[in-house]
Amino acid sequence: MTEPLLVIDDVHVAYPAKGWRRPPFHALKGVSLDIMPGECVGLVGESGSGKTTLGRAVLGLAPVTGGSIRYRGAEIGNLSRRSRRKLSDEIQVVFQDPYSSLNPSLTIEQSLTEPLRVKKVSAADASLRVRTLLDQVGLPSNAAGRLPREFSGGQRQRIAIARALALDPRVIVCDEPVSALDLSTQARVLELFKDIQDATGVAYLFVSHDLAVVRHLSHRVAVMYRGEIVEYGPGDEVTSDPEHPYTRRLLLAAPVPDPVLQEQRRADRDRLLDSQDEMALRLDAV
Ligand SMILES: Nc1ncnc2c1ncn2[C@@H]1O[C@H](COP(=O)(O)OP(=O)(O)OP(=O)(O)O)[C@@H](O)[C@H]1O
Ligand SMILES: [Mg+2]
Repeated sequence: MTEPLLVIDDVHVAYPAKGWRRPPFHALKGVSLDIMPGECVGLVGESGSGKTTLGRAVLGLAPVTGGSIRYRGAEIGNLSRRSRRKLSDEIQVVFQDPYSSLNPSLTIEQSLTEPLRVKKVSAADASLRVRTLLDQVGLPSNAAGRLPREFSGGQRQRIAIARALALDPRVIVCDEPVSALDLSTQARVLELFKDIQDATGVAYLFVSHDLAVVRHLSHRVAVMYRGEIVEYGPGDEVTSDPEHPYTRRLLLAAPVPDPVLQEQRRADRDRLLDSQDEMALRLDAV
């Protein structure tokens, strides 16, 4: 049987409070999930539920106070410096905002070459690699000499994806990578994520507040609610037949283009809010 690539096991994250003697804020309260090689795990939940925090914990950037995160069997918290460097090549990230994620004064070639040069890849090989990466994300090779401001949001996101791919990662944490894009661009960039996964076998932890977005891409979907995973399972099951009332509410919250249907869903949602389930959910949450 294949081993999971990444195992997140009962992870707690507490942010220290700003004020004197204030208790820390528990952003993750015992989160467990695993990601298989080549898998896309979607992570959905409302704003503030802890999605970004979980992504940051995987990248070693959140104050983890309990539990463990293992990458290919090794605890990421206590790796040697050398293994840590290797890990940071193998786990990459794509953020939401394509405007701030690229250095505006570097050409695309310079941005994409940076991680390669750190690895002592020769200038000639790096330049070749840049053409391959641009091609892989559907940009013309003459993009290399241009600056980020010459590109649209969708194109910039393609460049950010190319940069994340430069070192052949095994996992990419994608934190709302299409949320800033208009709908048709969103669909094309999602297609790109899928094609890249098919071609390279990279795994994704794909964060979004929008179930419709993760449904398209994810093999499994985890639903977060106030720092906990309340539902985790195969994408089609979680998104078509959710068990947890919070997930149902999240599904009903996704807008649909048909106003009559939308009205119907709003009514369904309101009914759900009043239901026994919802009472139980509220009791769970306190
Ligand atoms: N550096 C920090 N210090 C203190 N609290 C933080 C910090 N970062 C996040 N939080 C808090 O932790 C909680 C979870 O935040 P997080 O950014 O993980 O949520 P999210 O699910 O990604 O939300 P969104 O959909 O808005 O991006 C929030 O209540 C947030 O205010
Ligand atoms: Mg976030």
